[in-house]
Amino acid sequence: MEGVLISKFFVTSPIYYVNDIPHIGHAYTTIIVDTLARFHRLKGDCVFCLTGTDEHGQKIEQSAHKKGQEPKVYVDMIAKRFKDLWDTFGISYDSFIRTTDSTHLQSAQYVFAQMFEKGDIYKGEYEGNYCISCESFFAKSQLVGERGCPDCGKETTLLKEESYFFKLSAYEKKLLEFYDAHPDFILPKSRRNEVINFVKAGLEDLSITRTTFEWGIKLPQILIDKDKNNAKHVMYVWLDALINYVSALGFHNDLPNKMEFWPANYHIVGKDILRFHAIYWPAFLMSLELPLPRHIAAHGWWTKDGAKMSKSIGNVVNPKEVVDAYGLDSFRYFVLREVPFGQDGDYSQNALIERINSDLGNDLGNLLNRLLGMSAKYFNNTLSVDEVCFKESYTEEIAEVNAILGTLESYMDEVQINRYLEELWKLFSLGNGIIAKKEPWSLMKANQSGAVAELLVFIANVLLRAALYLSPCMPSTANAIASVFGLEVNAQNFATFIVQNQFLTTITLNPIPALFPRIDEKRMEEAGVAVKAESQHKEQWQPLEIPNAISKEDFSKMDIRIGTILSAEILPKSEKLLKLQVDLGEVRARQILAGIKTYYNPQELVGMQVCVLANLKPAKLMGEVSEGMILAAKDGTGLALIAPQKQKINGSQIS
Ligand code: ME8
Ligand code: MG
Repeated sequence: MEGVLISKFFVTSPIYYVNDIPHIGHAYTTIIVDTLARFHRLKGDCVFCLTGTDEHGQKIEQSAHKKGQEPKVYVDMIAKRFKDLWDTFGISYDSFIRTTDSTHLQSAQYVFAQMFEKGDIYKGEYEGNYCISCESFFAKSQLVGERGCPDCGKETTLLKEESYFFKLSAYEKKLLEFYDAHPDFILPKSRRNEVINFVKAGLEDLSITRTTFEWGIKLPQILIDKDKNNAKHVMYVWLDALINYVSALGFHNDLPNKMEFWPANYHIVGKDILRFHAIYWPAFLMSLELPLPRHIAAHGWWTKDGAKMSKSIGNVVNPKEVVDAYGLDSFRYFVLREVPFGQDGDYSQNALIERINSDLGNDLGNLLNRLLGMSAKYFNNTLSVDEVCFKESYTEEIAEVNAILGTLESYMDEVQINRYLEELWKLFSLGNGIIAKKEPWSLMKANQSGAVAELLVFIANVLLRAALYLSPCMPSTANAIASVFGLEVNAQNFATFIVQNQFLTTITLNPIPALFPRIDEKRMEEAGVAVKAESQHKEQWQPLEIPNAISKEDFSKMDIRIGTILSAEILPKSEKLLKLQVDLGEVRARQILAGIKTYYNPQELVGMQVCVLANLKPAKLMGEVSEGMILAAKDGTGLALIAPQKQKINGSQIS
């Protein structure tokens, strides 16, 4: 197309470890990635959407051996599960990369050789506490108790081995300069400081090879030729894994070269792996002298009953079961709409049903039904109006629609898909509102069928626009709506109806069945679906004996409030205490001493919201005053601070 600039758009998901079965956490990330890819295809961009699996490392070697399988046989089986699931979900990936692909190995070895050549890799000895489950090393001060991993609570092992190191420390300053120059590199922006503080606290060189197991990528042959001893090293799984983002584009390997897609527009990740993407990966890229990705966008965790979903806890929700029961688009809508990007969300079936019945059924479904119903009843499914008169009658409403649509792209750019959908939904309120206001049934009685035709044409054009913008999030629903007007969702129609703002003025409607019939527990039970899990609960209800019960009045004596930790310092004299400054929305921050030094790093606390008992009598500890108490819970695996499930204003009361 002459004169048309086609933009390249590259979006990636993490590559998932193949020691786990896919759950809704993985599905969530992948659906966000798919949504961004679809949005950009709709705009006419040239898109490359990447997902895949991370298949090396000790954890996976161990999982395979536990099953009595060779690692390759095992990873082939699980990688297929991920791929099959994304295929059933219609995820529009352009490439599914596996780190066991021979082309990936080529790139990884090239990268290692290149960084070595540059002088960024040197040989040393590593000693540290390693968590196999998280494939991460931790300093002693980070451990929970004697040996517990601060991320997952499992026991770490003390490792001492010859290892190659990457000079991460050499990139501290350049990284900080980069964050400074690119304020929207990390999304949501609220996560930015966490990364900056981590880097400011000082970066240690990174151990990037292991000699204690075999399931990994070997060092490049030239290094082995130089020194046979190098044959016992395999690459650290995170170095191996991050390289996927360029090996999939044919970076120094036998795949077709697609490096024109680099740098990535978005790496979508969970907040658990933000550090790897926002610190290590950029440093590796700087070493390779490649440009850095435009955005690292980190979402929150899906929890079930308040706990992070994970196989080891046994609280995973199987996305396939949810989709089989409620439909793919409803599931996509729910996960994209329910939680603000970056925050955690608790999965519940009731919340899902509520979204389907209210947003999808009442707002969207209802508007389409009313259009179809009235068009059939009053106009035998054919509407026709004069364009000039129609536009004159609906000048204001059309402007309103355009104003709503005008906000959407920036939300998508910031990956605030919940806000995108929230705004988009204003179209349905507008449509339903105007029908209520104009009362077409009264107009028909008053013989004003021309006015009714204009109204329905307006609604049709609103729904068509909504369908186009809805399509990245709910592709089949969008196509169903467009099919009512005999159209398809594609880039050309996006250009026609959105960019050029054209209107359909003669429309033959093709009726379709109601899109989102109301869901009630009864219907779901008939369909054999496990709403039961929740209702069974009720049937088995029995009164409990509650020891030391208190009254509401007793409780209300406690003034518990939300606060944000502004700073955290070590008290050199104390083994347990950290000195915190906590903003409770008062004239000044409170100083609180908390016995959490063994469980938390000072820098990771900064910015965190916590619950504070605010009317505890001030006391002096180790010569410092403490003006409150931070609430926490403790079990065998360590201690966790109590945080609100969503961001709340400082000073908010807990009741
Ligand atoms: O970390 N809620 O792989 P992984 C939301 N291989 N998202 C969740 C989630 C939850 N409860 N659980 C998992 C790895 N995820 C590395 C990545 S990338 C170069 C290497 C999602 O299998 C979320 O995106 O542990 C998280 O970051 C990712 O799965 C971790 O997947
Ligand atoms: Mg993980």
